[in-house]
Amino acid sequence: MPQSDTPPSPRPFGIHTAAAAAPTERFAARTAGMTASEIRALFAVASRPEVVSLAGGMPNLAALPLGALAAEVSDLVQREGEVALQYGSAQGVPALREQICDVMALEGIRADPDDVVVTVGSQMALDLVTRIFCDPGDVVLAEGPSYVGALGSFAAYQARVVHIAMDEHGLVPDLLRDALRTLAAQGITPKFLYTIPNFHNPAGVTLAVERRAEVLEICATHGVGVVEDNPYGLLGFSGRTYPALRSLDSSVVYLGSFSKTFASGLRVGWALVPPAVRDRLVLAAESATLCPPSFTQMLVSRYLAGHDWHSQIKTFAEAYRDRRDALLDALETYLPEGCTWNVPDGGFYVWLTVPEGVDTKAMLPRAVTARVAYASGTGFYADGFGSRQLRLSYCYPTPERITEGVRRLAGVLEAELDVMRTFGTPTRPALGPAPARNGPQTPGPHTP
Ligand SMILES: Cc1ncc(COP(=O)(O)O)c(C=O)c1O
Repeated sequence: MPQSDTPPSPRPFGIHTAAAAAPTERFAARTAGMTASEIRALFAVASRPEVVSLAGGMPNLAALPLGALAAEVSDLVQREGEVALQYGSAQGVPALREQICDVMALEGIRADPDDVVVTVGSQMALDLVTRIFCDPGDVVLAEGPSYVGALGSFAAYQARVVHIAMDEHGLVPDLLRDALRTLAAQGITPKFLYTIPNFHNPAGVTLAVERRAEVLEICATHGVGVVEDNPYGLLGFSGRTYPALRSLDSSVVYLGSFSKTFASGLRVGWALVPPAVRDRLVLAAESATLCPPSFTQMLVSRYLAGHDWHSQIKTFAEAYRDRRDALLDALETYLPEGCTWNVPDGGFYVWLTVPEGVDTKAMLPRAVTARVAYASGTGFYADGFGSRQLRLSYCYPTPERITEGVRRLAGVLEAELDVMRTFGTPTRPALGPAPARNGPQTPGPHTP
């Protein structure tokens, strides 16, 4: 049979053989650790209006002077639009970096604007810091529990997290020392300790001032870096601030943010790093975003220069304190015996421990059915711990909604306890026991 002269018809790009691998089979190995956080998975249901969400950590922006900000935005575009809407420096707008140094001075930090790298939220700084320090398999120390976004970055770079327990005064130095000795005996030096010293997310505790130098000293002795993450430090309810770890040791990598003190949607955060780290961090930032958005940086800069941001932060803190009080009152009033929690002196979160046998992750769908959402404790550990804990965020709902949310949560807990009393079984699903851990599991117990 004569061969046809017609060339084979071109195939659409990417479909070359019948046996082409699915795109998911081409994922890099490091993506295996990228799983949706329990909190993100929750967002869709928890944001239904009938559900009282005590789950997310969304700042409450109701007190922001939106009219004044609108005028600022308009003026920014009209007067400086050609700069604000243009690419900028990879390290960030110089004027803002100077102002950031003024903000950090409130917590005792003396810094050179040249050592500040502006990022798209402090989450980006955290991600970049992990990227430049961690190879797959490296160990990172973090409080247990720890911030879910940090755990996500550590997992994405295949770092292994070793948790250090806290008590009501924050990270326990003796447990840090023990963990470092155990790791040293295995020939392991962690890359850094990741710590949230003030108004911890999710534990709500603050690292005692007397412990700060000790923690730094332990890390220095073992050759371990320190990454201090401090988005809540200015949101203390007593009006006091604490000396930043970075104010005691200039080798600390410090992460800051305007998300909780101004507006999270602008996505402006920063890292203050030692000069030896700065260039590598800027290169990493450049490869991620070329430069942080000029527009939002310039808006934050104008806000800091032209508005009474100190008073604004005070207003925010007062609103959060009212909400914290509503939460604490409701916990006292409604929760069944056997629940314990801490009393935060700032920030957004209360960490609650429920009676033995109740599994907060297993209980969550029942809570959502009862129209209340929380973040279950396991999401804040890299190792499956935390099934008896949960985080309650009081930052966003009104005090009335918070009270109602806790009343609903108490009903769900009572129902779990009833099932346990009737059938004598814990509500824990058949996953086996949570891993054993040393040290206290919960900060600052407070029983109703
Ligand atoms: C402890 C901690 N670090 C970092 C972040 C990220 O904040 P940003 O909005 O600046 O990226 C958060 C946000 O909730 C946080 O709680």
